[in-house]
Amino acid sequence: MSEQDSGPSRKPWGGRFSEPTDAFVEAFTASVDFDRRLYAHDIAGSIAHARMLAKVGVLTEAEANRIVEGLEAIREEIESGRFEWSVALEDVHMNIEARLTERIGDVGKKLHTGRSRNDQVATDMRLWLRDEIDAIVAELERLQTGLLDLAEREAETIMPGFTHLQVAMPVTFGHHLMAWFEMLVRDRQRLIEVRRRVNVLPLGAAALAGTTYPIDREYVAELLGFEAVAENSLDAVSDRDFIIEFLAAGSLLMMHLSRMAEELILWTSAQFDFIRLPDRFCTGSSIMPQKKNPDVPELVRGKSGRVFGHLTALLTLMKAQPLAYNKDNQEDKEPLFDAVDTLRGCLRVYADMIPAIEPNRDRMREAARSGFSTATDLADYLVRKGVPFRDAHEIVGRAVRLGVETGRDLAEIPLEELQAISERIGPDVYEVLTLEGSVAARDHLGGTAPAQVRAAIARARARMSSRADATRAV
Ligand code: ARG
Repeated sequence: MSEQDSGPSRKPWGGRFSEPTDAFVEAFTASVDFDRRLYAHDIAGSIAHARMLAKVGVLTEAEANRIVEGLEAIREEIESGRFEWSVALEDVHMNIEARLTERIGDVGKKLHTGRSRNDQVATDMRLWLRDEIDAIVAELERLQTGLLDLAEREAETIMPGFTHLQVAMPVTFGHHLMAWFEMLVRDRQRLIEVRRRVNVLPLGAAALAGTTYPIDREYVAELLGFEAVAENSLDAVSDRDFIIEFLAAGSLLMMHLSRMAEELILWTSAQFDFIRLPDRFCTGSSIMPQKKNPDVPELVRGKSGRVFGHLTALLTLMKAQPLAYNKDNQEDKEPLFDAVDTLRGCLRVYADMIPAIEPNRDRMREAARSGFSTATDLADYLVRKGVPFRDAHEIVGRAVRLGVETGRDLAEIPLEELQAISERIGPDVYEVLTLEGSVAARDHLGGTAPAQVRAAIARARARMSSRADATRAV
């Protein structure tokens, strides 16, 4: 029996303990059931640490090589499902380390020199989240590209624009889709900015105060692709603000996806009937044979609550924690993992589904036509004829009242009746009362004119391919 095997229930930290851990406490404190998910990043961090220890002469090259080979073999065991995880060994870190020593003997016990699980777990979380942010951004970009393609096809499609969910002015469907696109632009920027602050190396902080070995943290950072080394050891092991800001960015993204969801749900209803979603993205009712339900957007809308909840959970976890590491921080994992899974799932299903939207162009046009949506165009027409805007507003209000009372849209009211309201109205008024004329007239940067939508899409494609959105200030 070696020295370390002598503690109760052979814990790696068992030396100073005189009785075994209570069975329930063992299960209560263990995290291996969920943190085993960090195995690949834990092994990558350990390999970099071992290489560094050899570089500075704490390990021999031969020792480091054996450790690295052992860790690679363990990765292989885990990936092929042969690894036996043990709750008694508490977490992913001690499971892997114990197995390393089992495989390569006493030299495995040297891996943890100059390191603590406190800086190890902070490193693992940052490495893991960095990869997940990259995967989320890639999926987000796929969704954005799908939106651009759909917006391009629908650049001229007329639909009602809404305020207060009441028909307001005609817009193009392409313009509406580009509004969604722009929300996602900012979400992508936020994630890329968060990644920069995630990508900082805590390793070397050890338990909290640093270590007495002549470590080379810059070298570890270089091996692991970290952009910077954490400046302060107490801060490095304890703060989880990088997770909180990721969850904040993720919450904003989910908030945007929920707004898109809400519109998709409304538009697929019989009352709107603006779009159809292909059957493969819908589900039926077990009792009502006629039903085809928009479950996918409904679930996305509902799942936004989970991510907001995880943000609140992590803020509460971190609030008032004294320096440095506290076991509270083990509770960062499940909320973060669930938030990442939720984000990836929602983005994936949207990226698949949204380009497959089938618009009902006739219905959209009809809804825009019947809602007095060109009333503002008539007011602008009167202003061009010299009527002050407030008076024009009043005149058009009377024309709308006439339309409401007689069941006609503005374009259906004969000229004599319009002229009875204002003699400034001429036969050319019907040009501005058409839906096409209305949207085409909003012909400036950011406007809904089809030509502007096409230009916006072209600029968006250039921004995406140059990655300019990632650094743009707005
Ligand atoms: N499983 C722990 C966590 O996730 C690892 C660090 C534990 N450190 C300690 N001193 N108990 O935070």
